[in-house]
Amino acid sequence: MAIEVYKILHFMGIFMLFLSIGGLLTTAINMETDARRWRKALAITHGVGLLLILLGGFGMLARLGILWPMPGWVLIKLIIWVMLGGLIALVLQSDLSKILWILVIVLGVIAAYLGTMKPF
Ligand code: HEM
Repeated sequence: MAIEVYKILHFMGIFMLFLSIGGLLTTAINMETDARRWRKALAITHGVGLLLILLGGFGMLARLGILWPMPGWVLIKLIIWVMLGGLIALVLQSDLSKILWILVIVLGVIAAYLGTMKPF
């Protein structure tokens, strides 16, 4: 297989690992209670993560000399970034949890693919 395929599989594994660790930690913290503890810490981690993605992403674009016109793969990554940001408003609706769990991984893999291949 091409090295890019291995790289994207590698990223997919990392996204799944971190997603599951987050889920397990929160489950442990909330065990035997129906409280939704750690919401603030989760929200802060989510927000700081989003900020760093943008800082790193635009920093790399500047170093790569890509600023304007913005290529299609960057625009789609920005849309994915907005979706992963807006998702925090939906996560506590338990009927959506299963779909969102999969969606987070799928969006992560699409973003990794776009960053690796820059297809358009
Ligand atoms: C949550 C969304 C995002 C995820 C999961 C993500 C993931 C990744 C990954 C895994 C790579 C590595 C690709 C490689 O080294 O081959 C990458 C590279 C990159 N990403 Fe993102 N990204 C996201 C959002 C963004 C955004 C919003 C921007 C721009 C504002 C951006 C700009 C870039 C750039 C410029 C590269 C470097 C490409 C290169 O090294 O040539 N990313 N991204």
